[in-house]
Amino acid sequence: DPRPILDLFRIGGRHAVVTGAAQGIGFEIAKGLAQAGARVTIADLNPDVGEAAAASIGGTFEVLDVTDVAAVAALAARLPDVEILVNNAGIVRNTPAEDTPDDDWRAVMTVNVDGVFWCCREFGRAMLARGRGSIVSTASMSGMISNHPQPQAAYNASKAAVIHLTRSLAGEWASRGVRVNCVSPGYTATPMTKRGLDTPEWRATWLGETPMGRLAEPFEIAPAVLYLASDAASFVTGHSLVVDGGYVC
Ligand code: NAI
Repeated sequence: DPRPILDLFRIGGRHAVVTGAAQGIGFEIAKGLAQAGARVTIADLNPDVGEAAAASIGGTFEVLDVTDVAAVAALAARLPDVEILVNNAGIVRNTPAEDTPDDDWRAVMTVNVDGVFWCCREFGRAMLARGRGSIVSTASMSGMISNHPQPQAAYNASKAAVIHLTRSLAGEWASRGVRVNCVSPGYTATPMTKRGLDTPEWRATWLGETPMGRLAEPFEIAPAVLYLASDAASFVTGHSLVVDGGYVC
């Protein structure tokens, strides 16, 4: 490519949809893509936080539940020019495996796996028709290791599914101009980790196993997504980019 290397990271004018971006990691991803020049749509369940989040980065907001396949299809049909899709919406339930309620298992699988697939399928179709597009999902280091003794069997399984779905779609769509990758963050300081997890005991256990000895800040995940979304990663597909302070190494 004759372009200077930093130009490869510019995504000026491209339309990016980021799911679950009202707060946390998703918001920082949306902000980073906007700073790199994208027209950003934040698609999230939560309009109260999401509207203001989108306005703060010069983006637009759409209410979306990624588990509602009809709503995902309708949004993809209304936004046929999306070239970058970031599947970031995700939930966690902390329950010992033997006590996991049916609804917790299903909720985690439905948001983290079904939701990612519905968005890939519906937005991917227009990308394939155009012969150009980049999909990046937020998986997790929990999709690579079991995180014992943390009681998150459903979450871990769901994120492993995202990593392998990424490889599968990458293989199917590689010759048709659509790249599919994921990022796998380690523990990141967001509302998700604050809910019930961020206790002194938890910090002692988990930070002790993180070579860098700290949580990630949400803005530290965004550059990995920008790389994968941009032409800088033009020969990269099916990859899981780990951003975890050395946890899984
Ligand atoms: P968070 O809970 O702070 O934010 C999640 C966002 O997703 C919220 O704005 C929420 O409204 C939205 N959301 C939830 N269900 C949705 C649905 N059905 N449809 C549309 N939007 C929905 O979470 P956080 O920590 O920012 O996590 C973002 C992603 O990163 C998730 O996929 C999570 O699994 C993943 N992740 C988080 C890590 C962490 O330590 N915080 C580590 C590794 C991965």
